[in-house]
Amino acid sequence: MRDTLTAPPARTQVPIRHLTSPQALDRPLIEQLLEHAAEFEQGTPREASPLSGRLLATVFYEPSTRTRFSFEAAMHRLGGQVLSAENATRASSAAKGESLEDAIRVIGGYADGIVLRHPDVGAAERAARVAPVPVINAGDGPGDHPTQALLDLYTIKKELGRLDHLRVGLAGDLRNGRTVRSLALLLSRFPGNELVLISPPALRLGEDVVGSLTQAQQRMRETTDLSGAIADLDVLYQTRIQAERFESSEEYERYRGVYVVTPELMRRLPERAILMHPLPRLEEIDPLVDADPRAAYFRQARNGLWVRMAVLDWALGR
Ligand code: NCD
Repeated sequence: MRDTLTAPPARTQVPIRHLTSPQALDRPLIEQLLEHAAEFEQGTPREASPLSGRLLATVFYEPSTRTRFSFEAAMHRLGGQVLSAENATRASSAAKGESLEDAIRVIGGYADGIVLRHPDVGAAERAARVAPVPVINAGDGPGDHPTQALLDLYTIKKELGRLDHLRVGLAGDLRNGRTVRSLALLLSRFPGNELVLISPPALRLGEDVVGSLTQAQQRMRETTDLSGAIADLDVLYQTRIQAERFESSEEYERYRGVYVVTPELMRRLPERAILMHPLPRLEEIDPLVDADPRAAYFRQARNGLWVRMAVLDWALGR
């Protein structure tokens, strides 16, 4: 007789909707998610509690404020509930040496979806290979951060009214910053955009992303000169030098403070332009800039809520 307890689970018919990299986001899906996010922001969702009775696990092996809180707030606001490991490196069985794959298999048996942040590039992809439920990448080391890129697009659209024919300056640590890597790829899905890649030579955007952008015939140019680059931008996207990715604190100190946005620098940025930053910001934006109406970074962080509601509803909705 067959033991039903050990029988393999029935195969699901519909493919699982993972979101592990920007590759998964083509233009129609981006537009669909942004439109849905706007409905959440306007308070006109199609259904009041679309994820009621659903459980989301947020599993974070790296620190987070915005990403975890906004995903959890989004899940609650969609009527669902949350299980959270905010410090999974120390507080989960990873501390005993359990593999990511085993942890994900197990958590996937308790929750209907997993939001994962992990220090290793490709961790979300590995998780998705074994997970019985959707896996959403909330940052895989210096790899990708697709939901941040979506909320960045949402912010640009809301602030400037379009996602095409824009000149976007990406500044700072382009080598290690996963937000810029994902954002550059998503911007290349829209026509007429130009990317201005502003970084010290050692912190240039990775060859893998540059290769994909080249293949997509994305217009771009590189410079080390922030001040010289900003006079004709529509968006200046400033980023943090990613201290945690450097080999030594001496190496980090070499780049720390390399670009600082000050009120003086803001005078060179066009009136119509916006200043963005995924946050947390350290000294790379002077707090005196916060009062400038073009400083969009706190509005940008808030937009994460609506966008993550749309992403969760897409991935976990019935
Ligand atoms: C970013 C990240 O974690 O990649 N933060 C975020 O999610 N808003 C940016 C950063 O840490 O510099």
